[in-house]
Amino acid sequence: MKRIVIFASGSGSNAENIIKFFNHTKTAKVTNVLCNNEHAKVFERCKKLEINCLYFNKTEFSSTDVILNRLKKEADYIILAGFLWKIPQRIIDAFPNKIINIHPALLPKYGGKGMYGMNVHKAVKENKETETGITIHFVNANYDEGAIIFQAKTTLLSVDSPEIIAEKIHFLEQKHFPKVIEEVILNKNE
Ligand code: GAR
Repeated sequence: MKRIVIFASGSGSNAENIIKFFNHTKTAKVTNVLCNNEHAKVFERCKKLEINCLYFNKTEFSSTDVILNRLKKEADYIILAGFLWKIPQRIIDAFPNKIINIHPALLPKYGGKGMYGMNVHKAVKENKETETGITIHFVNANYDEGAIIFQAKTTLLSVDSPEIIAEKIHFLEQKHFPKVIEEVILNKNE
């Protein structure tokens, strides 16, 4: 049984979905959620699901080994589910191809610094895209540039607002993210 630690910064709908999915499989379990935003809704969700959710600050994350040491003890896989900070190189080095991110667009389009959440959907709308989607990828030192594992598309109508686009993306994320994580773990099972 592999151990998953989730990083989240906001609402945590993906974190909740992943926790629930792995409550019903023998492949892995979510042991902890780590969050860099004290006011994030993910704390409430974890409380209901009886999963430990721990707050950490920028110094602990980027300038000390506090989080790295914790991960070494508690994680086989790290899942970024709406997590908005760049992962320090030493965490990436300690978990090669074991850190997976979800991005709410079809990378390499709409990736990079500042491209997260509604910013992505607004840009997609402004550019009058006729489709968008999700990308699940391994994490490297650059925002949204690691090897792509999976993409799924959805069609857009010209009347779709950024909020409707967000809903379409949410649907794809809920449907695919936990299953793709499980496939990665099963394919790599050492
Ligand atoms: C998700 O749509 C995720 O793809 C996106 O943030 C949202 C978090 O929602 N991530 C990024 O934009 C990362 N660049 P959630 O907190 O409800 O899971």
